[in-house]
Amino acid sequence: MLMAVMLRLLLGALVVTVAGGCATFEINRIDTPLVSNASAMRGEQLGRSREGTCVLCHKIEASSQGSDIAPPLQGVGLRWDAAQLRARLVDAQAVSPGTIMPSYFTTRHLVQVDPAYRNKPVLQAQQIEDLIAWLITLK
Ligand code: HEC
Repeated sequence: MLMAVMLRLLLGALVVTVAGGCATFEINRIDTPLVSNASAMRGEQLGRSREGTCVLCHKIEASSQGSDIAPPLQGVGLRWDAAQLRARLVDAQAVSPGTIMPSYFTTRHLVQVDPAYRNKPVLQAQQIEDLIAWLITLK
């Protein structure tokens, strides 16, 4: 669980206190990749599949059919770099508190989880990095 410890240190280092006195996480980037061998092809496969869950809220291309709950993913590679995308996928809740986007690589914000899935992140480190490798190509 070295990765979990490293991630916690990284998040801990970026804690800020917001107005109102309550401490919260505000992170915008995680520079260190979670694994080193990412594949944009695997990322695209996962990202476009129902199993990946992204398409439950996001369209990929603005023009395609699909959900309007969230902005289309087309163009995210122009708006964000890999480190910023990593922060959004690992812990969307920390980047935009209150967002409906799931935090895919932390268990901090998950509620009412079936016992079989408790304390496990929604996606694996490899899947997060594959998704990032694909997302940065969406320009
Ligand atoms: C339950 C709905 C939901 C799911 C599922 C979801 N997202 Fe999101 N996502 C959002 C919303 C809403 C936003 C808009 C910003 C916010 O609320 O923070 C967003 C924002 C983003 C952004 C920043 C977009 C931008 O234009 O700046 C990225 C990148 C992103 N999501 C990627 C993903 C990926 C990849 C997946 C699948 C692994 C995913 N999202 C799954 C709801 C969702």
